[in-house]
Amino acid sequence: MKRAVYLETFGCQMNELDSELIGGALRTLGYTFTDQPAEASVVLYNTCSVREHAEQKVWSRLGEMAVRKSREPDLVVGVLGCMAEREGEKLMRRMPVVDIMVGPGELDKLPGLLDNAIRTRLSLLDDPRTQRLASTPWPDRPKTADLLSAGQVALQGNANRRSATLAAAQDTLELLDLSRAIDPETLGGKSAAGKSAYVRITRGCNKFCTYCVVPFTRGAEVHRPPEHIVDECKRLADAGMTEVTLLGQTVNHYRFEHGASVSIGGITQPQKGRAYGVGGDASGDPHRGEHVTTFADLLAMIHERVPGILRLRFVTSFPRSFGNDILQVMRDSPRMCRYIHVPAQTGSDRLLKLMNRQYTVSEYFEFLDRARAMLHQPEIGRPLTIAGDMIVGFPTETPEDHQASMDLLSRARYKNCYIFKYSPRPGTIAIDKYADDVPDAVKRARNNELLLHQNTISEQVGGEFVGQTMSVFVTGMSKLAVRRARPAAAAAASATTGRVSLTISGKPTSSEHSPHTHEHASPDNDDGCSISGSSVMTEQGPRSTLETASATTPASGPVQMAARTEGDVIAFFEMPNRTKAELLIGQIVRLRMTGNQPLALLGELADAVPGQANVQVS
Ligand code: 5AD
Ligand code: SF4
Repeated sequence: MKRAVYLETFGCQMNELDSELIGGALRTLGYTFTDQPAEASVVLYNTCSVREHAEQKVWSRLGEMAVRKSREPDLVVGVLGCMAEREGEKLMRRMPVVDIMVGPGELDKLPGLLDNAIRTRLSLLDDPRTQRLASTPWPDRPKTADLLSAGQVALQGNANRRSATLAAAQDTLELLDLSRAIDPETLGGKSAAGKSAYVRITRGCNKFCTYCVVPFTRGAEVHRPPEHIVDECKRLADAGMTEVTLLGQTVNHYRFEHGASVSIGGITQPQKGRAYGVGGDASGDPHRGEHVTTFADLLAMIHERVPGILRLRFVTSFPRSFGNDILQVMRDSPRMCRYIHVPAQTGSDRLLKLMNRQYTVSEYFEFLDRARAMLHQPEIGRPLTIAGDMIVGFPTETPEDHQASMDLLSRARYKNCYIFKYSPRPGTIAIDKYADDVPDAVKRARNNELLLHQNTISEQVGGEFVGQTMSVFVTGMSKLAVRRARPAAAAAASATTGRVSLTISGKPTSSEHSPHTHEHASPDNDDGCSISGSSVMTEQGPRSTLETASATTPASGPVQMAARTEGDVIAFFEMPNRTKAELLIGQIVRLRMTGNQPLALLGELADAVPGQANVQVS
C-alpha cells in the first residue's frame, strides 16, 4: 500500500514544474497526495537556494519534522531541488531527519529512492531500539540520531557542471519531462490551473551572474529538442490547456543544434548548449541555419503547429541578444502574449560589471525601445508590457548607484518589478570576491524606496489601459479582490449588470476546486516577489498560497472574478452570479477596462470572442 505524500514547493516556476512532474510520476506509481503534512507519511520539500530567506524556511520545516520523526520513526523526509544540490551531505549531517536528498539534475531517480527509503524506515519498526523509542515519552527519549539517519541517500548531479556532449547523452533527466503525465484532473482539475501549464525549453544556466547560485545548482545550460517541446505542447492542448508558458533561465538564448543531439534507445537526448551565436548558415546570420533551431524558430513552430494553445508566453528573458527575429514572430503571431520579463538588476553600469551581466544600461534601453517600437500597440488593445527584477544593496552600492536604479525604473516603466535585497550565497562568485558591505538597514530602505517608486509607476502604466478593450484569461473568483476592490468594482459592475445579458454556450468549464492562479505580481503577494511563495501539491494539482477561493464565495449574488491580460496585468470584473461566473474560468474573454487600482485593472465584459469563450453579449 503506497503512502500519502505531502509535497511543498518553494521558489520559482521551474520548481513548480519540477514538482508537477514528480507528482505525476509518483501518482502513476500509486502514491496519493495530501495538503496536510500531519496526514502524510512522506514529506517532500522542493527547495530554492536563490536567497537565504528561502532556505531558512526549509530549515525550520526540517526542525519541525525532526521533532515529529522522533515520535514516528517511519516518517520519510526528502529534500529536493537546489538546496539538496548546494548543501550536499552537509545538510544530512546537520539534519539527520532527512532520508533522501535529490538535486534538480537527478529528480528522475526520486521514485526509486523513495521506495527504498520507505522500506528502510518500515524495517526500522521491527528494530527493538525503535520500539523502545516509541514507548518512551518525548522529550525524555534517548539520543536517536543513529536511528533517524539510517538509510540516508543523497544524490547530486550537476554541481560539477558536466560539460561534454557525451556526458549530456547520459542525461536521463529529459525522460522526466518526456514522461509527463498530462492529466487535466491533476493539472488543476476543472479550474483555471487545469488550463495553464509550464513547458521547459532550457535547463540550467551558463551566464554566471556573480550573485547567482543557479549555474551551480541547476548546472550547465541544456536545450531540449524542439520536437519534444512541440509534442508536449500538443499533448497539453489536447488535454484542454488554454495557456502555455515556456520556461528557461534565459529563454531567448535557446538554440538547438540538431547535429549535436544523440539518440539513445530511440529517444533524442539533448545536447549541451553552445555559446549563443556560434554556428549559423551561409546567409551569414549567426542565429539561423538548417541545423539550428533558434528561439524565434521554436516560437513560430509552436504557434503554427499547436493552434489549440490560445496563449503562448515565455519567461525569463536575458537583455542581451534578444533579436528582432524573436520580436517579429511575437508581432506576427496573434496567440503570442505581448509580455517580456527581462530583469535589469541595477541601473548602475559599474554594478552591472561587478554582477557580470554583460550589458550596459544604454544597451538595456536599446532593447526596451526596440521591443516597444515593434510590439506596443495600445490602439488595438495590445500594449507591450515589460516586467523586471532589481537587486538592491549589491556590494559597494553607493547612493548614486541606487539613484541610478531609481532612474532606471522611471525610464523602463515596468508593469511590475520584483525587487530583492542582495543575499550573499555560498558558492557564488560574489561571495568570494566582494564583501557584503551594504548594511541590512540600508538595503531595506533602498528596497522600500524602489518598491514605492515602482508602485506609482505600475499604477500609471495600469491607468494607460483604462478605456481599452483587451483579451483576458479568466483565472477564478477572487476572495481578496472582493475584500479589497469591492466598492470601485461593484460600482462598475452595477452599471454593467443592468445593461448586459450573457449567453454562454459550448463546452462549459466549471470550478469545483480552488483555482491556482499565477497572480504573482498582484497585491495578493505579500512581498511582491515572484519567487518567494510556496505551494502545496493536492490530489487536484498544485495549490498556491496565492490562490483565489471559489469554495468560499457565496452561491448567489454578484461574484468578483480575477483575470490576466496577455501582458500579465491582473484585471477584476464582476459576474451577476456564481453559476455564470464558473463557466468563464479558464476561458479567454474580452474586457473593457473601466478603472484601475495599484497593480490591478477593473473592467466589464465587452463582447464575444469568436471561437474562444463563446460568450455573447446582447
Ligand atoms: N540575492 C538577491 N537576489 C538574487 N537574485 C538572484 N540571486 C540573488 C541573490 N543572491 C534575484 C535576481 C534574479 C531573481 C530570480 O532573483 O533578481 O533575476
Ligand atoms: Fe542567475 Fe544570471 Fe543565470 Fe539568471 S542569468 S539564472 S541571474 S546566473
